[in-house]
Amino acid sequence: MRNDNLSAPQAIYRKDYVAPGFWVDTVEMGLDLGLEQTHVATRMTLRRNPESTEKDIVLFGDGLKILQLRLNGANLKKSQYSIQGETMRIPDAPDDVVLEIETLIQPVKNTALSGLYASAGNLITQCEAEGFRRITWFPDRPDVMAKYTVLLRADKKAFPVLLSNGNLIEEGDLGDGRHYAKWEDPFFKPSYLFAIVAGKLVCQEETFRLQDGRDALLQVWVEPGNLDKTDHAMQSLKKSIRWDEERFGLELDLDRFMIVATGDFNMGAMENKGLNIFNTKYVLANPSIATDTDYAGIESVVGHEYFHNWTGNRVTCRDWFQLSLKEGLTVFRDQEFSADLVGTATGRAVKRIEDVRVLRQVQFSEDAGPMAHPVRPDSFVEINNFYTVTIYEKGSEVVRMYYTLLGHDGFRKGMDLYFARHDGQAVECDDFRAAMADAGGRDLTQFERWYSQAGTPRVHASAVYNAEEKTYVLTLAQSCPATPGQAEKLPFHIPVTVGLLGADGRDLPLHTDGAQAGQTSVVLELTEASQTFIFRDVAEEPVPSLLRNFSAPVVLHFDYSDAQLAHLLAHDSDPFNRWEAGQRLATRRLVKLTQAVQAGEALALDEMFLEALRNTLNDTTLDPAFRELVLTLPSELVIAEEFDEVDPQAIHTARQFARAAISDALRGDLLTAYEDNLTPGKYSPDAESSAKRSLKNLALSYLADWPQQSTFDLALTQFNEAENMTDRLAALHALVNFKGDAKQKKAADKALAQFYKLFSKEALVVDKWFMLQAVAETTDVAKVRELMQHPAFTLNNPNRARSLTFSFCNANPSQFHAPDGSGYALWAELVIALNKINPQVAARLARSMDRWKKYSPALQQKMKAALEKVAGTKKLSKDVAEVVTKALAAE
Ligand code: TRP
Ligand code: ZN
Repeated sequence: MRNDNLSAPQAIYRKDYVAPGFWVDTVEMGLDLGLEQTHVATRMTLRRNPESTEKDIVLFGDGLKILQLRLNGANLKKSQYSIQGETMRIPDAPDDVVLEIETLIQPVKNTALSGLYASAGNLITQCEAEGFRRITWFPDRPDVMAKYTVLLRADKKAFPVLLSNGNLIEEGDLGDGRHYAKWEDPFFKPSYLFAIVAGKLVCQEETFRLQDGRDALLQVWVEPGNLDKTDHAMQSLKKSIRWDEERFGLELDLDRFMIVATGDFNMGAMENKGLNIFNTKYVLANPSIATDTDYAGIESVVGHEYFHNWTGNRVTCRDWFQLSLKEGLTVFRDQEFSADLVGTATGRAVKRIEDVRVLRQVQFSEDAGPMAHPVRPDSFVEINNFYTVTIYEKGSEVVRMYYTLLGHDGFRKGMDLYFARHDGQAVECDDFRAAMADAGGRDLTQFERWYSQAGTPRVHASAVYNAEEKTYVLTLAQSCPATPGQAEKLPFHIPVTVGLLGADGRDLPLHTDGAQAGQTSVVLELTEASQTFIFRDVAEEPVPSLLRNFSAPVVLHFDYSDAQLAHLLAHDSDPFNRWEAGQRLATRRLVKLTQAVQAGEALALDEMFLEALRNTLNDTTLDPAFRELVLTLPSELVIAEEFDEVDPQAIHTARQFARAAISDALRGDLLTAYEDNLTPGKYSPDAESSAKRSLKNLALSYLADWPQQSTFDLALTQFNEAENMTDRLAALHALVNFKGDAKQKKAADKALAQFYKLFSKEALVVDKWFMLQAVAETTDVAKVRELMQHPAFTLNNPNRARSLTFSFCNANPSQFHAPDGSGYALWAELVIALNKINPQVAARLARSMDRWKKYSPALQQKMKAALEKVAGTKKLSKDVAEVVTKALAAE
């Protein structure tokens, strides 16, 4: 029965893995391309896998019209195969088979953006994870790797450009206004890396000399009119190629490498072999449309997709439970890439802090909610729901722990061994761990728990100083909260990097097991539930600097005094922990302020904290980007994690109070910081100037939180005179959020309208315009509904849908959680509407309600009703059904 909507959707399990009954050696495809209709002819050679218990040929297909089905030249009769859901079985096949299949598909009707779809009149594919089955019947699973030849045929005018994976081996005219192109990919690949692109596109191209002396052709393809926005992506691609050669000894293995940008895309980008397809957001940039953050995002995503060529494509995943094998490792690589490009120690720390902030804000919250899952999940209903921060960001932290445990050279040896063993294979997370263990000569058996156990471990640290014996005894105890389906957790293998600070703020030399003479940081390995580490010859009672550089993805508790935190903030040689100390000071205060708001008490911020912030702000020996991070208060979502029952409005009031108090107390210092960090002259997105802009614009936003006409004027002038999007957007932000009088409000609205008019033809900027309003303090549910009526708004385009609705539901908590439940009602409407258009996007929005159990009983009741409304909807996709079913099952 199909109408019992509330029953749990069907899960698949890692333990049920069975090797494919047949391997595929070659795939030849011929596609007659059209927007309305595309005809797909596939010929594949299959070979029985004698090692499998599966005896049938098993193919997957989704929404395909079958025109022909031939096995070794003979038409297959209906009685010779069976189809159930997406699975076709052909029993009793000989050991060697040529299978020929013809299917018809309708790209314009494909609003899910998986498989072959239309975007601005062009044809684009997205096959990861299971989109290839929406193009043809195939053993669409990542352990089936084949060589592909693809012949594309299409109308010349509508589709002048025809691209696919690998090398172009032939092209020509077909008469009748049609033409063709034949592509051959010399590498074995899983079907999820298949790609084609056809349409009216233009490219920036360049030949690039590789380290081994070969020349590669690099291309960035965009819609006509966007050629003035491809340069940064091209520069980023060249840097990526160089970096992988230098840092990991990995070469580009193709003669041609293409990037294509599309405005309709479910995710950031996709690493198809030789033909990466990107969301325009991660390609298009020039100073007038892109912010510093956009420039940095492009660099890291271009890197990410390029690095997949080795970590993902040459060595791929045996099954989708191993997704983090490629994603965690590739995120680690792109994070290191960005850090290496900045180069300086503080630059690296700034990048590290930014990455950890995302991890804490989003992944820790995922780990604490109904969708919590291990880095290598044991089951899932819909794989698209598992492209998560746990798989990506926590997965990267797990890879980083190998790096911390084995050291720079040890890690490189492990990578080399991984490729030596597994190039051309589809493997498991365990294979990566084995390569690291064998190369490093280490037992990493217990480390496996980072892959099998969900949840964020807690480490409780306590210490005793013995002045007579000059010993400092540090005790580390670990535990991990229960997660769905995992009540009991075993101890993790946790690297805890530690240093000790003396009263003068300098690192004390460390005398402890594993520390060399003169060493001031040591990696302690916590493997038991509780362990004691003894430091000898400690001349004075130190302040411990724990978990330096965030050496493990855990929550660390230590009973620091405010004075100790201020000492760390002022002196720690580990810049990450300097920042961390400031965040701890701020969090303490924001929690107390929130409680004071709830109790109706007077609010105040202490001079000691203000002084610590002032000193940091005025310390011009510190990188401006680092100062900006220290001065940024923990987000409302991070503060919320400190409470058992979250009160979004109280948190917002408390944080806004703190911002205004800082603005008032530091006014002169903020103005100086503003003046000192102007970046006159030609715009450049380099680390140094973007650091200055980030501090200057932080100063502006603080100044605007203590409303005065002079700051309003400052923001308005910056808005009018800005020569780059970073400054213009920051100024608009300050204006729109300014708590001003009617006249100022009018001027802010005028700026908002001007901005729209100026950029109405730039889709990515219109997205910013919606987003800025979505997260504005005064934007309530009614205002969102009004913006949804704007002619430029649509749910059909994922970027646009995200810019307004996702931003509101996820990043404007005090308005989304309106006491009357109107935010939840809006959420339910949106999820239901998106479910019909694009299940992947709908399921992402559905996640906004994950933590509903953390709110007051009154809010919980309204959230539950909204979840039930969605769960009871007819024709719910597997994607949305899994998310809401798991949310409703939450304890
Ligand atoms: N593999 C892609 C990446 O991490 C992710 C991706 C792109 C994706 N598009 C997708 C995943 C669509 C699922 C569905 O770079
Ligand atoms: Zn990836």
